[in-house]
Amino acid sequence: MSITTEAELAGMKAISDIVAYTLKQMKEHAKPGMTTKDLDDFGANILKSFGANSAPFKAYKFPGWTCISVDNEFCHGIPSARILKEGDLVNIDVSAELNGFWSDNGASFVLGEDTNGHQKLVNASKEILQKAIYSIKGGVRISEIGYLIETEAKKRGYKVIKNLTGHGIGRSLHEEPSEIANYKDPYNINRFKKNSVVAIETFISTTSTYAETLSDGWTMVGNKGGYMAQHEHTIMVTDGAPVILTEKNEIWN
Ligand code: CO
Ligand code: CO
Repeated sequence: MSITTEAELAGMKAISDIVAYTLKQMKEHAKPGMTTKDLDDFGANILKSFGANSAPFKAYKFPGWTCISVDNEFCHGIPSARILKEGDLVNIDVSAELNGFWSDNGASFVLGEDTNGHQKLVNASKEILQKAIYSIKGGVRISEIGYLIETEAKKRGYKVIKNLTGHGIGRSLHEEPSEIANYKDPYNINRFKKNSVVAIETFISTTSTYAETLSDGWTMVGNKGGYMAQHEHTIMVTDGAPVILTEKNEIWN
């Protein structure tokens, strides 16, 4: 969407605060021994307490309130009886709707002690998201940001997933621009527009370059295995630094 009134900005801020708060609380609540369903129930209760709806359920009938993906699962993991373990690489993606406004916020993190050495990948994803977001303003080519993300990933010895992308958001979960890729797509000549709302997401991986859907119809894993870290903020594009609508979840820390 493009924000044209104060009421639209207020609507986007309200739902963005809620998803940011929910994600932050879920990260803090996650403990070894808990199932991903326990963690999803915890997040669902927070969203419900604000009257917000699960975006993936409302838009796509996803079987859960939030997406929780662990280790080999890259994204769209279904909350289940899977038990979280110390050192797991966990991704929580919280997207929700309130009063017709939609926002999206995600983060990968290491659960407890970094016994499997995932922190470096997590840090790379966070740093790259920050760099990408602060390079976006009205008139910048979308493919230029993709180039930046892939270049920064390569510098750190990582790859990017080519078939997972950021997206426009606001009046629905996925809007135009439909693909904000993590690499330079030469066919994408579109530019970021001032006042538009977009969800910017990194997909930084150790080995794989494509994500494939498992037979459950949702969970995505890498075509060559390995691990992937994702961080996502919903932002409003301006002429200068963007407004990070989901900033209450301080991803950079
Ligand atoms: Co998301
Ligand atoms: Co998204």
